[in-house]
Amino acid sequence: MTEEIVVVPGDGIGPEVVPAAIRVLDAVGDFEFVEADAGDRVKEETGEALPAETYDLAASADATLFGAAGETAADVILPLRRAVDSFVNVRPAKAYPGVDALRPETDLVFLRENTEGVYAGHEDRLTDDVSTLTRVVTESASRRLAEYACEFVQSRDEAASAAAEETTDGRDAFTVAHKANVMRETDGRFRDAVLSVAAERGVEANEVLMDAFATRVCLDPTQFGVVVCPNLAGDVLSDLAAGLVGGLGLLPSANVGPERALFEPVHGTAPDIAGEGVANPSATILSAAMLLDYLGRNDAAASVRDAVESVLADGPRTPDLGGDATTTDVTEAVVDRLDG
Ligand code: NAI
Ligand code: MG
Repeated sequence: MTEEIVVVPGDGIGPEVVPAAIRVLDAVGDFEFVEADAGDRVKEETGEALPAETYDLAASADATLFGAAGETAADVILPLRRAVDSFVNVRPAKAYPGVDALRPETDLVFLRENTEGVYAGHEDRLTDDVSTLTRVVTESASRRLAEYACEFVQSRDEAASAAAEETTDGRDAFTVAHKANVMRETDGRFRDAVLSVAAERGVEANEVLMDAFATRVCLDPTQFGVVVCPNLAGDVLSDLAAGLVGGLGLLPSANVGPERALFEPVHGTAPDIAGEGVANPSATILSAAMLLDYLGRNDAAASVRDAVESVLADGPRTPDLGGDATTTDVTEAVVDRLDG
């Protein structure tokens, strides 16, 4: 069966890195790509950053690959995440050999709640002096995230034992980061829901206060593996981890829903280098590898990841990683190193 993948390149370097990922996907499978518009440019032309047609395509496709949007990012990405009913944002932050990283031993995956918390959109201006924000935490969303986390660590363990590898180095399967000592009701509910799902499923989980996590992960990232977080904490802590692994050009992400998903690099439009043809395509190609895994094409996904790792180790490299290669040079080098 040929799956339909909606591609939304967006603005800035989006239209440079998304075609790179399509080139790689074309080399490993048979997909039908449907291109759709979103972002600053479309808003200038039509008055709308996210055309209804793009929303509808993402809401019905098997999977969507998104590049980046500029000033309209929030008007584009938040509705697109809703279009796929995404309840978890999966953000791996892994350091690669050959890339200058502050903490080369970092290998983390953040599972971030993607629908509520302080991003639920309940902000009010009460008076000239006072503004408020209502934080929403539900049992159902917390449990759904925890169920995903349990399945995620169990399938990683199965894949690792099939490959006779050790993934967790004796660590617990996942850590839930929270601030339940202060936000007793909301983060208390979040923590309790996540830990009880883990207990029901027989998954070893532990907890950490998110501020302590920020320090500990910088000092020794190997203490952690899979980290389950509320929405804002996951956003901030995964960006912090991006700093540990050597840059935004490398970080992929997935917004997963019950029936469909949207994949995107963590970076934005990189206006400082847009149009020069030197953007690092790795984050978007690695997002495409997550998309392949999501579609059950695990061998193709592994082949793409291995090829990217090999190119990161040996070059060619784009200027953000100290090289002088173009986006196309790196993409073709990845394609050359794919299996078979
Ligand atoms: P940014 O991620 O676009 O760029 C930050 C720095 O990282 C820049 O120096 C850039 O050149 C570099 N960089 C990022 N991706 C790279 C790549 N693939 N290869 C080489 N270098 C790369 O973040 P910034 O500058 O804060 O935001 C720029 C615009 O992007 C803003 O308009 C912002 O709203 C938007 N944005 C959109 C996002 C999205 O669509 N999901 C996410 C973050 C920002
Ligand atoms: Mg962010």
